[in-house]
Amino acid sequence: MPDDKGAARRKKRSASGAAPPAANAPEPAIAALLDENRLYPPSPEFAKSAQVRDDALYREADADLEAFWASRAAELDWFVKWHKVLDWNVPDAKWFVGGKLNVAYNCVDRHIRGARRNKAAILWVGEPGDRRTLTYWDLYREVNRFANGLKKLGVKKGDRVAVYMPMVPELAIAMLACARIGAVHSVVFGGFSAESLRDRILDSEAKVLITADGGYRRGTILPLKHDADEAVKQCPLIEHVVVFKRGDFQVHMKEGRDHWWHRIVDGQSDDCWPEPMDSEDLLFTLYTSGTTGKPKGIVHTTGGYLTGTTATTKWVFDLREEDVYFCTADCGWITGHSYIVYGPLANGATTVMYEGAPDWPDKDRFWQIVEELGVTIFYTAPTAIRAFMKWGPEWPAKHRLTSLRLLGSVGEPINPEAWMWYHKHIGAETCPIVDTWWQTETGMILIAPLPGVTVARPGSATRPLPGIVADVVDEKGETVDVGGGYLVLRKPWPAMLRGIWGDPERFRQNYWSRFPGVYFTGDGAKRDKDGYFWLLGRVDDVMNVAGHRLSTMEVESALVDHPSVAEAAVVGRAHELKGTAIVAFVTIREGREHAAAILDDLKEHVVQKIGKIAKPDEIILTADLPKTRSGKIMRRLLRDIAEGKAVGDTTTLADPGVIARLKTKYEDQES
Ligand code: WT7
Repeated sequence: MPDDKGAARRKKRSASGAAPPAANAPEPAIAALLDENRLYPPSPEFAKSAQVRDDALYREADADLEAFWASRAAELDWFVKWHKVLDWNVPDAKWFVGGKLNVAYNCVDRHIRGARRNKAAILWVGEPGDRRTLTYWDLYREVNRFANGLKKLGVKKGDRVAVYMPMVPELAIAMLACARIGAVHSVVFGGFSAESLRDRILDSEAKVLITADGGYRRGTILPLKHDADEAVKQCPLIEHVVVFKRGDFQVHMKEGRDHWWHRIVDGQSDDCWPEPMDSEDLLFTLYTSGTTGKPKGIVHTTGGYLTGTTATTKWVFDLREEDVYFCTADCGWITGHSYIVYGPLANGATTVMYEGAPDWPDKDRFWQIVEELGVTIFYTAPTAIRAFMKWGPEWPAKHRLTSLRLLGSVGEPINPEAWMWYHKHIGAETCPIVDTWWQTETGMILIAPLPGVTVARPGSATRPLPGIVADVVDEKGETVDVGGGYLVLRKPWPAMLRGIWGDPERFRQNYWSRFPGVYFTGDGAKRDKDGYFWLLGRVDDVMNVAGHRLSTMEVESALVDHPSVAEAAVVGRAHELKGTAIVAFVTIREGREHAAAILDDLKEHVVQKIGKIAKPDEIILTADLPKTRSGKIMRRLLRDIAEGKAVGDTTTLADPGVIARLKTKYEDQES
């Protein structure tokens, strides 16, 4: 009786209560969120001394958007002032036209002249327990020496430099050193496979790769140099590989091509002239998944990006001089770029970098760090919060967390239950929580509360920040004042992407074609009667797995690459911890013998092609897939099967019988 089993599973899943709204299924999510009426206004004590205390910023931005952003830009140090705030020619934006500045200068040099000279810029914690503190002065010297080292290797303004490192201070130093000399960094998350690294190096045409011998993760070693070697074998443009020695890991150094980091900086002067960059010169590219299998190199530039990240770090995190700010992301993602490195350092803050896993050596690692470093601001992802919930409140309870005064969340919708748990067990019911919505493409936070002003509601990112014009629209692009629809941005913002590396057509197509003249985020959202935004997940074939974007196509391509696979269709299903679990429906080639271990084999193949984050949670072997008469796989139906839901409209299927067969198959395999 497959149907009964389906119902039982449905019950089990909803009883967990932790699953966030699934992509393409806004209806139940809207219903659930409508019940969310709890209000959390800022406490009078918090509001009294907050960086932003009233709605003046909103009014200032409403009155004159360009003047508003120009005032924020004026808080940075410019070598040459811009002559025009914005040049907007859909979809091409130029911010602070004619202005010249240097990002590393703004993040480091301007702090060493005053009281911040001896302030901790980076507090680093290695996974095995080692610790380092870099003051702004230390950071200044390290960045300059490494920048000079890069120059000596022939790196020039505009060159692309790939970075594949563990979370060590040298990762931030490498980024800042590139910024200092005008090289464009492209950081690749250390958890990505050699093949993913190779594809990104090839696409960006990088000529230098910066890596490390390895890095610690859950007590084991990420073999970064080994994977880098594999990748570089197929990257003819790479001239040099710089290797930071993180541990004492055995690596092979190729004569002439590979250089130890410590040798590169040895004897270099700690004085390196910061390249005066045009406001619109490239700062970095960062790859993210889209609806096709090919990752997109998102392009960010200099003046607008720094203006946007600097201002939002201060507003949203209420950053103050004495704060110890800990964002648990990795610099391989945009969160690490904007809110570990650039935003905090431009503000002269103390930023924490942690190398390893949250549950190593035990499940209280983050709380141990909070206690030991006296962390005041803590920024993490819902997937992590759901893991903390599962591990239980006894882990944070072991530590004194009274230094905390503000909590943040990013990456996916935070379920009200997770919000409440975070509020109670981490925030002692006193810390405001900022739920921050943004994307790799937006560069900076766009929808979030201002903690001293906004009344928070669990599960809502609340309202667009000052200077951000977001809207919810229907299929035709018309505003939906109250209700669900697509999230769009109607006006340009300083840190917005300037394109997709090497692919202007895809840029136009992806973001600017669905609704002419406005930016389409790819997210569904609902706006309530108070103007609050409730994010509902992706509306395209992009999955949000543990706060990271993966395209179904990317995983499918990896599966089809396996010699035994004829066809594969991948969908996301709500998952208690990860937000979305990856479910793959796979057809094996006819006549192919396959061992019982085929499922593990296929999973391993995906890990090797993309990385651990893309490993399917479930693989269902099936003789056929539901297709339209024109041969298009109907993922919508597969999603219904994977979610244990009643399967939707099947009238366009070439063979309607396939659904019944698949359902039985799926439920048999699951039980
Ligand atoms: C997608 C962007 C921005 C850094 C992390 C992810 C989802 C992000 C939220 C939030 C609901 C969120 C969206 C968005 N998302 N933050 N606070 N509430 N959804 O960056 O990999 O570029 O992914 O993450 O779906 O489009 P990314």
